[in-house]
Amino acid sequence: MGLDVEFFTGRAMEPHLSALAALRIAVFREWPYLYDGSAANEQDYLATLAASPGAGLAVAFADETPVGCSTCLPLAEADAAVTAPFATRGWDPGRFFYFGESVLLPRWRGQGVGVTFFLEREAHARRSSHADYACFCAVRRPAVHLLRPADAVPLDAFWRRRGFVPYPDLVCTMRWKQVDSAERVENALSFWIKPLRDVSLP
Ligand SMILES: CC(C)(COP(=O)(O)OP(=O)(O)OC[C@H]1O[C@@H](n2cnc3c(N)ncnc32)[C@H](O)[C@@H]1OP(=O)(O)O)[C@@H](O)C(=O)NCCC(=O)NCCS
Repeated sequence: MGLDVEFFTGRAMEPHLSALAALRIAVFREWPYLYDGSAANEQDYLATLAASPGAGLAVAFADETPVGCSTCLPLAEADAAVTAPFATRGWDPGRFFYFGESVLLPRWRGQGVGVTFFLEREAHARRSSHADYACFCAVRRPAVHLLRPADAVPLDAFWRRRGFVPYPDLVCTMRWKQVDSAERVENALSFWIKPLRDVSLP
């Protein structure tokens, strides 16, 4: 079965948003996100994406079936929680393109889809905006955590090989219900940044 990645913008994203929600719920349930999600609490997120004129959505299909998704949008069109640490530093959000999640079902990993997700989003950011940087954030977990699988491999090396640099002090917070919590809990996520053009890191 072959894997094929397609990229969608604007209204063309709409038919794929329910697949994005389902894949986020399935993949983020696992370490390290531990997100106890439901279709209902995906709605705000999907609405932000659908309302962003600059957003893009990559979908990986195995034959006709979506098995992975990845999103991006201009940082200025992202949630206030995401833009807050940039505002605090006085950084112009117009210089950044925000890469949302990459979620791929485990069976399809290790075949280049995650690399393609980055290439597609970087191409979209370069052609559709004047942003100087791509950025994304990743959840921070303590080294010792009851739910960390013994064989968990951090994605840090994968991200470094894609050209991203960690900014451990550039942190945003988001709340979600976890598989190990009764209520939503606050999680800290730190950013990674990559120049998209010939500029120095901020
Ligand atoms: C992040 C995620 C999408 C990566 O997906 P993936 O498809 O397994 O990643 P890839 O296969 O593209 O890359 C993994 C490695 O395989 C290599 N690879 C294997 N086959 C390849 C191919 N045919 N073409 C290109 N690269 C290939 C890549 O180069 C990479 O190695 P490198 O970093 O040494 O260059 C996946 O791990 C995932 O869904 N994780 C859980 C959710 C998550 O944590 N997401 C990130 C935060 S939102």
